[in-house]
Amino acid sequence: MIQSNFYEVIFKRKSIRKYELKPLDIKVQHEIEEFAGAVKPLYEGIKTEIRIVSQGEASGLLSIKAPHYLIITSEKREGYLTNAGYMLQQIDLFLSSRGLGSCYLGLTRPIKVIKKELELEVVMVLAFGNPAEVLHRVHVSEFKRKSLQEITNITAYEQFLEPARLAPSATNSQPWYFTGDNEKIHVYCVKTNLLKALVYEKLNKFDIGIALYHLATAARNFHRGFEFVKEKSAESNPPKGYYYIGTVVIS
Ligand SMILES: Cc1cc2nc3c(=O)[nH]c(=O)nc-3n(C[C@H](O)[C@H](O)[C@H](O)COP(=O)(O)O)c2cc1C
Repeated sequence: MIQSNFYEVIFKRKSIRKYELKPLDIKVQHEIEEFAGAVKPLYEGIKTEIRIVSQGEASGLLSIKAPHYLIITSEKREGYLTNAGYMLQQIDLFLSSRGLGSCYLGLTRPIKVIKKELELEVVMVLAFGNPAEVLHRVHVSEFKRKSLQEITNITAYEQFLEPARLAPSATNSQPWYFTGDNEKIHVYCVKTNLLKALVYEKLNKFDIGIALYHLATAARNFHRGFEFVKEKSAESNPPKGYYYIGTVVIS
């Protein structure tokens, strides 16, 4: 599918919060469903389901009115939140490349009747539809993000880390930090205090999955291999205030 366009989309996508409330054409809805059914997981073997519901079928704090909402549910296994972020970011970029708007909604949940029908835990809701505001950024300077120096001590690999830097995250917290050497990028997530952790720990792990998908897309764009593994030495040596998620091996 149109995956090769995604690299360029990373440099212009943004969250869309105003939508035309008219439902998308059935043909377009089917195209999205088909794409959603084919997204690649970060970790094999975690059961997930993606379901699309309509306006009025999801609600919550900081929610947004949209004609459609995509819900990802998952089996609760190690890495499931990061896995879900990696999967959903494929859809976020696909929608943006297709001229459609989308916005993650971390505290929105499906209404009771829908929830009852779901077998697995609801991880995230993504609003989407025809945008009623400008869809894309024109220049990278329009992204409000930390500098590369604030999120990594690696001086090589800018072509992979710059796309990761631009990844969206809950409340734009950008909870990632990258260390490494010439072949590897170790990925860490910020530790939060107990109170913050109640809301942010899950969201932050999801955010890391989004950034990892941007990294994987950059690797593909430059015809390099992307593998995500665990490394004992990187796990036991996190930067202060961060914990280990995994290591990207670029080949
Ligand atoms: C996991 C996650 C949850 C989010 N939840 C909300 C939300 O509940 N409401 C909202 O308006 N935006 C939400 N956002 C959008 C972020 O605020 C947005 O991605 C961030 O500010 C960066 O802006 P950008 O996406 O336009 O680049 C969420 C984003 C992520 C990744």
